[in-house]
Amino acid sequence: MTGVTVRVPAKLNLQLAVGPPRADGYHDLVTVFHAVSLFDEVTAQPAKRDGVTVTGEGADRVPSDQDNLALRAVAALRTAVAGPGVDTSGVHITIAKRIPVAAGLAGGSADAAAALVACNELWDGGLSQSKLLEVGARVGSDVAFALLGGTAVGRGRGEQLTPALAPATQYHWVLGFADGHLSTPEVYAALDRLRAASADGAGGPAQARPAQAGPAEPDLDAALMSALRSGEARLVGRALSNDLQPAALSLFPSLRKTLAAGLELGALGALVAGSGPTCVFLAASADRALDLAVSLSGAGVCRSVARVTGPVAGAAVVPPSK
Ligand code: C5P
Repeated sequence: MTGVTVRVPAKLNLQLAVGPPRADGYHDLVTVFHAVSLFDEVTAQPAKRDGVTVTGEGADRVPSDQDNLALRAVAALRTAVAGPGVDTSGVHITIAKRIPVAAGLAGGSADAAAALVACNELWDGGLSQSKLLEVGARVGSDVAFALLGGTAVGRGRGEQLTPALAPATQYHWVLGFADGHLSTPEVYAALDRLRAASADGAGGPAQARPAQAGPAEPDLDAALMSALRSGEARLVGRALSNDLQPAALSLFPSLRKTLAAGLELGALGALVAGSGPTCVFLAASADRALDLAVSLSGAGVCRSVARVTGPVAGAAVVPPSK
């Protein structure tokens, strides 16, 4: 076999509710993941030793050593499938990026998920989807969702997934890519600081609330779930929410202008994607998305724009062309 290519989508969070920091440094979440039609392509080929090459959008910001999340996924899969008769020799991973790096769209996790699917095929590892989800969850919080795709509720660090039951509505999104990046751990840390500051400034006795307290248990938004069940974009647009948004805006204040511009131009809803700095806008139809994309680029409030649809399927092998 010469190589296996896997196509994997970016994700949006239609809701991202963040609890207080846990002892392990992560935050418990309740999130509604939504996979959209912006894809990276990841190819695994037999090689003497593991390695990675990255091309395309933001390639120079992606580590090409063992820190690369796709290579960490390869190592995790090798451990999981090791056994007599399974040849898990070296692989070279080639990542063709279209999902911008450090943009809140889980591009790194997507590449890790794609590497899992590609190597499982290349090595004939035989791992089931649920086994791959387990291995993926160990590699990163968003990897499992990139395997699953669609629209799903995530809990825990985001790795415990339940597919959302919703009609087959296709939503039309416009993404506004920022001229800059945000680091996910820094955005979570900024949220903890904002929450600690507002708890301190709340006037109550300092000992009444532990420092850095957020909501004890993040909750799934019933209004968003009912909007998704109705399939009405207008209701979904109104129910979009992201607890990380104030933190992302504090680190990247110009995003306020981008979000406001999109709403003024007729978006049904607007929010920062995950930890940012990409801005996400929901449009009423494919035509409205085109209008919005053209106007947003004209307004000069982002580096570039893309139109995508969702939900789409998770990481999947691209059949070899004949
Ligand atoms: O799991 P992943 O490597 O994608 O997470 C990146 C960083 O984002 C973590 O190191 C942590 O700082 C932050 N994070 C978090 N809570 C989560 C997910 C991520 O604090 N549920």
